[in-house]
Amino acid sequence: MKIAIVKERRPHETRVAATPETVKKLRALGAELVVESGAGAAAALLDQAYVDAGATIAPDAASAIASADAVFKVQRPMSADEGHDELSLLRPGQMLMSPLGALSNRELVADLARRGVVAFALELIPRITRAQSMDILSSQANLAGYKAVLVAANSFGRIMPQMMTPAGTLVPARAFIMGVGVAGLQAIATARRLGAVVSATDVRPATKEQVQSLGGKFIAVEDEEFKAAETAGGYAKEMSAEYRAKQAALVAEHIKAQDIVVTTALIPGRTAPVLVTEDMVRSMKPGSVIVDMAVEQGGNCPLSEFGKVVVKHGVTLVGPANLPAELPTDASALFARNLLNFVTPMVDKETKAIRIDLNDEVVKGTLVTRDGQVVHPALAQ
Ligand code: NAI
Repeated sequence: MKIAIVKERRPHETRVAATPETVKKLRALGAELVVESGAGAAAALLDQAYVDAGATIAPDAASAIASADAVFKVQRPMSADEGHDELSLLRPGQMLMSPLGALSNRELVADLARRGVVAFALELIPRITRAQSMDILSSQANLAGYKAVLVAANSFGRIMPQMMTPAGTLVPARAFIMGVGVAGLQAIATARRLGAVVSATDVRPATKEQVQSLGGKFIAVEDEEFKAAETAGGYAKEMSAEYRAKQAALVAEHIKAQDIVVTTALIPGRTAPVLVTEDMVRSMKPGSVIVDMAVEQGGNCPLSEFGKVVVKHGVTLVGPANLPAELPTDASALFARNLLNFVTPMVDKETKAIRIDLNDEVVKGTLVTRDGQVVHPALAQ
């Protein structure tokens, strides 16, 4: 079994899908690794480290992929229309293990099927205990939540903690975290460590205790709809217009007094809910900062702009293009381990080849194309 690792070419991407550490472990499973020259450079992982771990270096993506049975990636492959044709390098029967955003990129999935690629969409890894170590969404969101608070602190003209000085006392910043999933929890913990007074909101009731246990104050409309807002898979449901109106009224009151707002609210396969309206931004104090982590999915605030820092109504709005990629070394380390943990149970001990077992919930939950067909139940219609 030969696995190819290529340099990621999407804008803002700095991560790599395997590290020298996982290369060693994949080799121990019987795999051969071929790494495109420079694939890890942006994450401070140089070719020589991959060679020392037992990989071979290919001069370009085409030659790395040409003889591989499987391709590991951090970002979904690009098409010629996107300025770099990675898709045409893939051939029939070849496996692709990568986040694909399959629920929103149906055309890409159809294209992979037409090319005969056996594609696994890593964002669809089911949220079961056994798969926690494979969960790329969690590992990357965790780092992103941490970085979002640092980005906010850097754009803020004041300090986070209370500070008593001979010239007087500086009051602590108030940080409000909207959406308490993996990223939100890490943002709460990070803001607390920096000394901010933290509050947080979510629509899933399970988050109340989590916020309080991290020393934050929980802010939410806790009605009957709230009590039923979590899916069996642990994700948020889309809330009714009535609920959103009540939530908006509560948030409008709370947000006026906040200095830093980090928004993380997502609903899988849909555009992100608007949680911070223009009127709310206008009500905030000049110099306040909003980091909109959902900007790539349309944003939790309509004023934030993808990949930009803008000032509107005196408030700085940050729309980070790719927060995990701002921590490339650690983000690659965790992503690569997720991928190693995903592939390990699939490797046949005798033949050392990857075996697709559709009785395995994780395999079945992620396999999107095979034998020229779109095979995932959520996509097949
Ligand atoms: P996510 O990235 O899909 O969404 C972020 C947060 O936004 C969620 O907490 C969601 O409830 C919240 N949200 C959505 N709509 C909202 C609204 N209108 N107002 C306020 N908040 C809103 O979620 P993430 O971080 O991927 O995970 C959600 C949960 O899944 C985790 O907290 C955890 O309980 C569970 N999980 C389980 C895993 C496992 O068992 N393997 C692995 C990872 C997460």
